[in-house]
Amino acid sequence: MFKILSKKEIANNIRSFEIQAPDIAKRAKAGQFVILRINDNGERIPLTIAGADLSAGSVRIIVQEAGKTTAALCQMKEGDYIKDFVGPLGHATEIKNYGTVAAVAGGVGTAEVLPVIKALKEEGNKVITIVGARCEDLLILRDEIEAASDELLIATDDGSCGRKGFVTDVLRDVVEKEAVNVVYAIGPVPMMKAVANLTKEKNIKTMVSLNPIMVDGTGMCGACRVSVDGEIKFACVEGPEFDAHKVNWEELISRLAVFKDLEKISFEKFKSRGGCKCSQG
Ligand SMILES: Cc1cc2nc3c(=O)[nH]c(=O)nc-3n(C[C@H](O)[C@H](O)[C@H](O)COP(=O)(O)OP(=O)(O)OC[C@H]3O[C@@H](n4cnc5c(N)ncnc54)[C@H](O)[C@@H]3O)c2cc1C
Ligand code: FES
Repeated sequence: MFKILSKKEIANNIRSFEIQAPDIAKRAKAGQFVILRINDNGERIPLTIAGADLSAGSVRIIVQEAGKTTAALCQMKEGDYIKDFVGPLGHATEIKNYGTVAAVAGGVGTAEVLPVIKALKEEGNKVITIVGARCEDLLILRDEIEAASDELLIATDDGSCGRKGFVTDVLRDVVEKEAVNVVYAIGPVPMMKAVANLTKEKNIKTMVSLNPIMVDGTGMCGACRVSVDGEIKFACVEGPEFDAHKVNWEELISRLAVFKDLEKISFEKFKSRGGCKCSQG
């Protein structure tokens, strides 16, 4: 059992948790994730390790309510226990001194990019971070991202903060003004695909962190398979990061939609019951 040490709302529908998991905290590296199960009957969901505190023996996860399990998790309180919390899983991000790196994040991907930019900056890279959100209220971790970047640029759909438009509009300006050696993108699939199209045109190496449906996280079930350069890869053990220019985006988009109807029914049932009984402490 893994204790919730703290829980904070950082934006509407987004919570930051510190979970007591000293063994994971010791080994976690940027780019890795955990798979958790709230209780015996719960489904297993993957979440990125957004940080680790060695002295407290805790791991930080940042969760956006997307459906039943994430909503149930967000209802849990400080002092509650999560049944299973397994990790660190997946390959760590390849951290090298590339020169100038542009890190592009959208939505809750901002939490996922934070450990990566911290590690890239510590390695001596110039880090330009571009964060996108629908509106200013949905921008998360602004101070932490700013502290870990040489430059922070913001794009919002409604223009309430930074530039009005998409992260790709900002990225285009950046790569036209200065030599960017590597782009790292994490966020909604359409955003990562748009970044990949832009950087392919400009011939800039680009890494993306993919978010296919995962079940066991050990390479056994095949749920997380993605096609990269015409080959099948299991994102949980061979990823989650891949060369953006080699990902079969259409296949990923269609595989993510396979359970949409069932996910909707399950979330509606969950809400009509007033949430998760097991998480009400
Ligand atoms: C490596 C990885 C890291 C992730 N990191 C984060 C993170 O740090 N913070 C965060 O908020 N979200 C993260 N996600 C997404 C998160 O796992 C899903 O939002 C969550 O599983 C949704 O479950 P649900 O029951 O709440 O919603 P559901 O209604 O079941 O699903 C909502 C949508 O989430 C996706 N999804 C559903 N089940 C899974 C699953 N088992 N595995 C992956 N995706 C699924 C599907 O696209 C689905 O349409 C990550 C996903 C992956 C693969
Ligand atoms: S989640 Fe089962 S093989 Fe990757």
